[in-house]
Amino acid sequence: MKNDVQCLSDAVAYCGAELKRFSDSPFLEAQLIVAFVLGISKESLYISNDEKISEDKLEEIVAFVEKRRNGTPFYYLVGKREFMGLEFKVNESVLIPRPETETLVEKAIEIADGRSLTVLDVGTGSGCILLSFVKYNGSSVGTGIDISEKSISVAEENARNLALSNRVKFIATDFRNFFSKLKFDMILSNPPYVKTRNLIHLKHEPLVALDGGIDGFELYVDLIRKAFRLLKNGGYFIVEIDDCLSAKTFDSFKKEGFLDIEIIPDLADKKRFVAGWKK
Ligand SMILES: C[S@@+](CC[C@H](N)C(=O)[O-])C[C@H]1O[C@@H](n2cnc3c(N)ncnc32)[C@H](O)[C@@H]1O
Repeated sequence: MKNDVQCLSDAVAYCGAELKRFSDSPFLEAQLIVAFVLGISKESLYISNDEKISEDKLEEIVAFVEKRRNGTPFYYLVGKREFMGLEFKVNESVLIPRPETETLVEKAIEIADGRSLTVLDVGTGSGCILLSFVKYNGSSVGTGIDISEKSISVAEENARNLALSNRVKFIATDFRNFFSKLKFDMILSNPPYVKTRNLIHLKHEPLVALDGGIDGFELYVDLIRKAFRLLKNGGYFIVEIDDCLSAKTFDSFKKEGFLDIEIIPDLADKKRFVAGWKK
């Protein structure tokens, strides 16, 4: 009960109880919410457990919990998400970066092997893929494109926050209309791949970031063709998929002319990425 909340540990217990039906890890989230509202780290909660909580802060916590109970994702409420150990601003115009996408970036970094490359990120969203790739891969430079102008603004802000603006540029465009005289060494993409019928209850994340059409595969054929045309000879393309799309994606890579095609699992051992080379 809200009225029983006196100190920080009571606040955590209150939030945890309120979120039980709404979160996969209600008590962890409760700690994160209380820490966020108080502007302290989660770890410092342990030493401030008995500290009294003010009326104002308690009201803020109650309002936060109410928004969570209404379905707003936690990371939109805090406005940031960690990805590859870096902090990215997020809001409702971009997808919240997913941990499984880190495997795509790790694979790209492994392939790049410290070489200075020119990279294209198709459907850049918050910019998390491109920015973490260039951050960890020395002097590489890149371009991020996205159909959503609002997401391009977020990606640009993230580039400034990570001091990477001089190594990346972002362009608002449908990838199907994107042309470049300069070809790329590597193309990375996490396109929308959720079936439209699974998105009827979507309230907060942008539909355009997730909607992959009737079968989830709507953008892939055009994307794979485009990637082949935009790559240099010797270039590498890696794309995220739903695991049920692995065979179709593999076939499209093959049809387009990619070689040494590989299906790569994520950490949960789901077929999550397809990659290939333009020789
Ligand atoms: C699944 S989200 C990925 C966002 C980000 N790269 C990430 O991994 O978190 C897909 C992104 O593709 C963008 N997108 C959808 N259709 C597009 C198109 N036709 N051309 C360019 N971008 C598109 C969406 O706006 C969205 O930002």
